[in-house]
Amino acid sequence: MHPHNFVLPLFVSEKIDEQKPIASMPGVSQFSLGEIVDEAQRAQRLGLQAVLLFGIPEKKDEQASGAYAEDGIVQRAVRAIKSKSPELIVLTDVCLCEYMTHGHCGVTRIDGDHFHVLNDETVDLLVKTALSHGRAGADMVAPSDMMDGRIGAVREALDANGFDQTGIISYAAKFASSFYGPFRDAAESPPQFGDRHSYQMDFANAEEALREVALDIDEGADIIMVKPALPYIDVLWRVHDRFGKPTAVYHVSGEYAMIKAAAEKGLVDERAAALEIMTSLKRAGADIIVTYWARELAEWTRQ
Ligand code: PBG
Repeated sequence: MHPHNFVLPLFVSEKIDEQKPIASMPGVSQFSLGEIVDEAQRAQRLGLQAVLLFGIPEKKDEQASGAYAEDGIVQRAVRAIKSKSPELIVLTDVCLCEYMTHGHCGVTRIDGDHFHVLNDETVDLLVKTALSHGRAGADMVAPSDMMDGRIGAVREALDANGFDQTGIISYAAKFASSFYGPFRDAAESPPQFGDRHSYQMDFANAEEALREVALDIDEGADIIMVKPALPYIDVLWRVHDRFGKPTAVYHVSGEYAMIKAAAEKGLVDERAAALEIMTSLKRAGADIIVTYWARELAEWTRQ
């Protein structure tokens, strides 16, 4: 393992002036716009080569307008980071949930006691979001919404606007998982009603994951991602083995928080457990691992 295998997720918030620790994820904080540049520099000094940015806007609305605002929190953070650390690879999460009043990843319509996420309307907003990230200088965009057809639409729009060098890392196989809970605290994005089962995948179905990955590759994804990690290690292996594409895996908030909680109780050794998990993910075919332990792993893998 090498520090370059790991990508560090960073949360930047428009609502704070200084670092705010996330209670459900020990060791993880939201940072202000002023702090995020230093945090990114620190990651680079530790030997990491990439960070993944998530934004928490001051205001949410029904159009997720903060997601694609030219002076949105992520757009400003990317510009600031790239001006100080031009070599650091900046990936941006492309999703609407942090910016929508209702916390869903797309535009919703409510019919009686049902709600629908409107796929194509959502894709239009995701395209605007990805383009604004490209204009800000993101090296790669990472759509995490799970709408159909968004990778093709984003690729086409980036190319048409002179961003043919902006890559796409696609959350291709993202399961509707109970392990995202702590992240929704960090990103302030829990759905206010319903759940994400109509757009994220059924965890009983591995074949669908392979179909989703094939579609995203066809539509132009450069790197494909499986998420969460350990409960889906079979899917990770199959994706890596079948497609031979650069394969990423997201070791998510709940997976991280479990080990943290167990370590705090003295039930497992955090460093040993983290290294074992990361090694397993590499063994199963992960070229890139998104993990909240990225900073520590940069140290640990060197040792
Ligand atoms: C946004 C998004 C989520 C995560 C990454 N991007 C939450 C979700 O889908 O509810 C989860 C990451 C984690 O749990 O660490 N759509």
